[in-house]
Amino acid sequence: MAVNIEVPLSGGAVSEGVVRVGETVRRPLRAHSPAVHGLLRHLEDVGFEAPRVLGVDELGREVLSWVPGEVPQRPLAASVVSEDVLRGVARLLRRYHDAVASYEAPAGAPWDAETSNVDGAPEVIGHCDVTPENVVFRGGRPVALIDFDLARPTTRVFDVVTALRHWGPIEDPADRDAGLYGVDVGRRLRIFCDAYGLDRERRREVLPAARVRFERSYRAMRERAERGGGWARIWQGGAGPRIRRAQDWLEWHWDELDARLW
Ligand SMILES: Nc1ncnc2c1ncn2[C@@H]1O[C@H](COP(=O)(O)OP(=O)(O)O)[C@@H](O)[C@H]1O
Ligand SMILES: [Mg+2]
Repeated sequence: MAVNIEVPLSGGAVSEGVVRVGETVRRPLRAHSPAVHGLLRHLEDVGFEAPRVLGVDELGREVLSWVPGEVPQRPLAASVVSEDVLRGVARLLRRYHDAVASYEAPAGAPWDAETSNVDGAPEVIGHCDVTPENVVFRGGRPVALIDFDLARPTTRVFDVVTALRHWGPIEDPADRDAGLYGVDVGRRLRIFCDAYGLDRERRREVLPAARVRFERSYRAMRERAERGGGWARIWQGGAGPRIRRAQDWLEWHWDELDARLW
């Protein structure tokens, strides 16, 4: 008889009750799970690598496929913060957007509605959480996205900004991983936008979108934290002041970053 050992997964430290069982991942079902499942099925149909929906288990949890490979751990290794990987993440996000552009989500699909967004007509179902912990690597290269919990209709630029928040990073140096402490963020933003293929006009939207996103995500996170759970833990760990420091850093470096974007 096969023994199904449950291994807790805590990469992102937000979701509680995420476990690995063999070649599957079990996660609590949420109100937005049906919308995410539709998206994951579309990605499977068009051949973009992401977890596959395998069903619901006897405990009422969603069953997703385990994506083979490595997910970065903290502190991030030098190889993960290299410019080659940065280009790879940008191309992966571009491939994701191109793969999802053809997806007609059902009207009224219950996407996560509590997180921040930018204004502007939605263009794609963004991943909206492209942290290092949500990218799977093989042979040192980023090959797949996981954790579509925050996916929702948004603009391509908003999704680029959510990725750059972590991969630039748009962050106060004091809060960065050691490997990103002294990097030239302006150069990295440019590399990312070039590899993504973001055209000149749209690059003008990147810093303003980052500014709006910071303020809205501060408020959204504070509201979520009031309800307890993983977000409360993150908030108590200092997420609020960290966003405030990142905002200040962005404002101080705005002109310099702006000049480097194209
Ligand atoms: N389908 C999967 N394939 C491979 N690894 C996974 C998968 N799902 C989760 N993981 C691992 O578990 C960690 C936490 O899962 P995730 O779905 O990202 O939850 P959280 O909401 O906590 O970020 C990830 O960072 C990754 O290391
Ligand atoms: Mg995650």
